[in-house]
Amino acid sequence: MEMITTFNLTKQYKGQGGCREINLSVPSGHIFGLLGPNGAGKSTLVKTLVGLLQPTSGSALILGNPLGSYKCREKIGFLPELFSYQKWLSAEELLTLHGQLYKMTKQAIKKRIPEVLTLIGLTGTEHKKVGSFSKGMQQRIGLACALMNEPKLLFLDEPTSALDPLGRRDMREIMLNLKETGTTIFLNSHLLSEVEAVCDQVAIINKGRLVAVGEMEELLTKKCEVEIELDTISPEFQREIKEWGKILAIQNNTLQIQVADKETVPLLAKKIIEAGYKLYNLHYRHSSLEDVFVQLVEGGEQQDVDHS
Ligand SMILES: Nc1ncnc2c1ncn2[C@@H]1O[C@H](COP(=O)(O)OP(=O)(O)OP(=O)(O)O)[C@@H](O)[C@H]1O
Ligand SMILES: [Mg+2]
Repeated sequence: MEMITTFNLTKQYKGQGGCREINLSVPSGHIFGLLGPNGAGKSTLVKTLVGLLQPTSGSALILGNPLGSYKCREKIGFLPELFSYQKWLSAEELLTLHGQLYKMTKQAIKKRIPEVLTLIGLTGTEHKKVGSFSKGMQQRIGLACALMNEPKLLFLDEPTSALDPLGRRDMREIMLNLKETGTTIFLNSHLLSEVEAVCDQVAIINKGRLVAVGEMEELLTKKCEVEIELDTISPEFQREIKEWGKILAIQNNTLQIQVADKETVPLLAKKIIEAGYKLYNLHYRHSSLEDVFVQLVEGGEQQDVDHS
């Protein structure tokens, strides 16, 4: 089942900024990463999906319900970026308030508070004032609020921006555990390593528009580099190899070429040998998410956007 499907979803601010004509679908049980540079439209899209902003045009289904409907809000959790909670409340009071906003019963709230505090690593802070928390603790308590209702779908907007490296690792574990227990996560981030480590699918947004959507694996193997060392790299060989991809560099008898995908690599090796060259070395490297990101965002290139 699709947890999110959007149809040309657009939210602009007085005709400017925001996000435009977004078409994507997020299947159940996955971690979906939305990557983009500052100001690309990530937060606008998430705020529109959780029902905080009205779309300018287009529509979306969240858990099969139209945007903003009460039925879907009940089952989603949202950790906004740059949030600031009531400093004078204790952790327990803040979580109780969020439980009440979700219309949970008193007993359910009482049972859930220690569970969420354990999950995010803040056990024992029930009676501490949120105002006395460090930035990292504030981010964790924000996640606890978003988890009070045991959401089926969790939106996280830059959840590790205030966390130290250990906190980031903890957040990664928490996300993977939530996924194990069947929670779908929509993660906004510009931290490529974070997205690469946890996400199954990724979308890249730039200047309000999606420039790529797909399985992480698919995106990373869309373009790959092969380094080939031969006995000789003749002008004739260079001409032949151009059919297989773009030559990136030639040094002595080593050549680097960008090929379309991983499947091209064994075909290329076969061709080289059949043509009578001595193949001493062949090294394959798929793109890192950074390569793909920089290429799409700086180059402004439009990749195939797969909405299937
Ligand atoms: N309330 C607003 N009023 C007017 N313009 C806005 C508003 N919120 C966002 N924008 C504009 O919309 C665009 C997208 O902003 P958004 O906050 O969605 O980006 P983002 O990808 O979340 O960026 P960041 O990584 O910095 O959080 C930007 O050009 C921004 O200036
Ligand atoms: Mg943002």
